Amino acid sequence: MLYYTPMKALIPAAGHGTRFLPVTRVVPKEMLPVGSKPAIQLIVEEALAAGADEVVIVTSPEKEIIKGYFDGDPDLAARIRWAYQTEQKGLGHAVLQAADALAGETEPVLVLLGDALVSGEAPSAAMAAISRAHGGASVVGLERVPRERISRYGIVAGTPEDDRVLKLTDLVEKPQPENAPSDLAIAGRYLLHPDIFTLLASQTPGHGGEIQLTDSIRRLLAARPVYGYRYPGRRHDIGNPQGYLETLQAFA
Ligand code: UTP
Repeated sequence: MLYYTPMKALIPAAGHGTRFLPVTRVVPKEMLPVGSKPAIQLIVEEALAAGADEVVIVTSPEKEIIKGYFDGDPDLAARIRWAYQTEQKGLGHAVLQAADALAGETEPVLVLLGDALVSGEAPSAAMAAISRAHGGASVVGLERVPRERISRYGIVAGTPEDDRVLKLTDLVEKPQPENAPSDLAIAGRYLLHPDIFTLLASQTPGHGGEIQLTDSIRRLLAARPVYGYRYPGRRHDIGNPQGYLETLQAFA
């Protein structure tokens, strides 16, 4: 039998949610209901089902309702720890706020965006399996995007291993379609070697003046293998009214 250290998960959920104002003035987008559960609970459940034994949620002092929600469920609350981002300097900066909570970690950390739900097969468990099959390598979840949306995402280049897995050779944050290396976008799920925290600590602001997680993954790629997994499920962005409606339809 093969033994491995249980995985830690990290959910960044401290963003302002400006694309979903005015409701996000009082209700964080991560707390919007999908059926009878807030979206973030489905994400916590995905992480636990993939083998995570602990989940660090990065939130902000304005979004304490998220902690209040989980405190009401002793079973889930026991497996959640909290970190805070007090200035919204981007996704990479949010992930960095969990560095202390995950100090000493030697296994890849599963990062799940708090506003991204995947319908169909959940990608996290398959990503963990791909990582183990490659000696604990980092893995990013990928989806194909139409040409007109390429400039909104981190886009990868890589060498295919099979129909769904590729070994990354490069990634570019928000390229113009004519400069993009492929139509494969990083999509809401990451399993990242803990070196990512050191890299984020020295990361200079990138696109939009924010600390971009993609920029640090690009530097991680220069030193360690990173694989991509084009997962079969569909990613839904609950961070805007249209995406939220589509999420509800997909999960109905
Ligand atoms: P988004 O890119 O959707 O950013 O974040 P946002 O700031 O939340 O939303 P808008 O653009 O203002 O509408 C993707 C995920 O990363 C988190 C968000 O909470 C979301 O789960 N995030 C983003 C942070 O935790 N901190 C940040 O500074 C930015």
